[in-house]
Parts: sequence; C-alpha cells; structure tokens
Amino acid sequence: MKLNIAEAAVRQRCSMQPRVGIILGSGLGGLADSIQDPTSIPYQAIAGFPSTTAQGHRGSLILGTISGVPVVVMQGRSHLYEGNSIEQVAFPVQLMERLGAKSLIVSNASGGINPRFSSGEVVLIDSHINMMSRPWKRTGNGESIDLPLRHASVYDEIFQRKAIEIAAKSGFALARGTYLATLGPTYETRAEYRFFRWIGADMVGMSTVPEVLAAIDLGMQVIGFSIVTNVANPDVITKTDHAEVLDWAKVAQQRLLPLVQALLPQMA
Ligand code: HPA
Repeated sequence: MKLNIAEAAVRQRCSMQPRVGIILGSGLGGLADSIQDPTSIPYQAIAGFPSTTAQGHRGSLILGTISGVPVVVMQGRSHLYEGNSIEQVAFPVQLMERLGAKSLIVSNASGGINPRFSSGEVVLIDSHINMMSRPWKRTGNGESIDLPLRHASVYDEIFQRKAIEIAAKSGFALARGTYLATLGPTYETRAEYRFFRWIGADMVGMSTVPEVLAAIDLGMQVIGFSIVTNVANPDVITKTDHAEVLDWAKVAQQRLLPLVQALLPQMA
C-alpha cells in the first residue's frame, strides 16, 4: 500500500522506466550532475521516503539517463543512526525496484582499515560484515527471516569483473574489499579499528548493508563501491571529521563517475 502511494507520487512527475538504481552516499551527490534529462523529486514529496539529515546528503530522487541507460538515482541516503528503522532505510530500494530497476549500484564513504588503501581510493565491495545489530525483516515475498544460501554471494561477480576490466582499461587497479557496517553514528576508537581489521574488514562505514539486503531479497543484482576517505592507523592518535570525509569523497567522485558511466550499459 505504502509502495503504491510512493510509486504514484513518482509516476505523476515522470513516466520513465529505470533499469538501474543508484544510491549516492556521503559526498558523492555530485555524480547526479551527469544525469541527462533529469526529473528531480525531493524525498519529502514521496510518502514513506525517509528523510536525510546527514551532512553531504541532498535528499532527491532523480530519474533520467546516464550513458543512455534509464536510471533512478538517490542523491543522498538515510541511515539507521538518524533514527530510521531497517524497513524505512530499505523502502527506497523497494520503490526503485517497483519503478523497474533490476539492478542496483550502491556507493558510500568509508574508513580504510586495510593499510594498503589510501584516502580518495575507490574500492569495489566484494563482501560485507553486518555489525548493525538489528533484526532484519525480509522485504520481498518471503515469510521467513532465515537468510537463504544465495546471500553467500551478495555482490554480483560478473558486474565486479566488468568494473575491474573497465578500471584497468582506464589505467588503474580497482581494489576489492570487505565492508563492515556499524550502527554509528560515531567513528571508531583505535581498539575498534584494530578489532575490525582482525576479523577481516577492509573498510568500515555506517550504511549500505540494509539497502543491499533489501535489493538481494527482491532478486536485484548488486554492485557496490566504497570511497575510502580516511585510513585508520590504530597505533596513532588521529581524529576523523566529517569535513575530511566529504573532501576526499569529492576527489574520488572524479574516478568513480567514468567507471559508473562505462559500467551502466553493460549492466542494463
Ligand atoms: N568510520 C566509519 N564510517 C566512516 C569512516 C570511518 O572511519 N570514514 C567515513 N565513513
């Protein structure tokens, strides 16, 4: 019911059928400037859409095309730490799927746990560790909350291979890594960074996993990019601030945009 109302609010403004959904995370909203023939709808105009209060998150749903592919783009996302439930955070993904999106590109800003990473680096998410400590209700048709086996491979292998090839052709090696999601809203202590590295995380952030699980549950194919904005050094006292995160996200945006533009026609 909620989905029907939200779908109608979008359809009133735009009849386009998007093929791919894109979520632009912290500081990455500038990628929306590359959308052709955009119809931009503020989240407040769509019933059921959670609002975004975090800095660097604009709060518009944009329909249009990139590289000739019809897309629906979230310019800014909402987070659990803003007080939203998993269901609220998953809702925009359900709406994108309802509008026609068969696959999803997620992006976020993260702290680099892997010391090989540097600030401004784009990393392909090849797995995640869910430490959001919240029960997750399935969003699709399933009744059960058991995770089916297909969740063992969440991030689409073929999309990943394509992204790596595209990056290599444009002259850079796209690193891959495991993204660990916390509830936030705090950045980590040195002890937490050390612990996260020890359990196998390469990046840490406060988003993405709820949307990805919702997409997988709806049968969408998913690819994820994480922008490393600060590299954790658990042995030295440093301070991470949001302004630094946004600055590095802007730098990485210039690398992520051509990658997404080249990847989209191969996804649709
Ligand atoms: N930790 C969690 N989230 C983040 C970080 C971090 O160090 N940097 C950007 N988002």
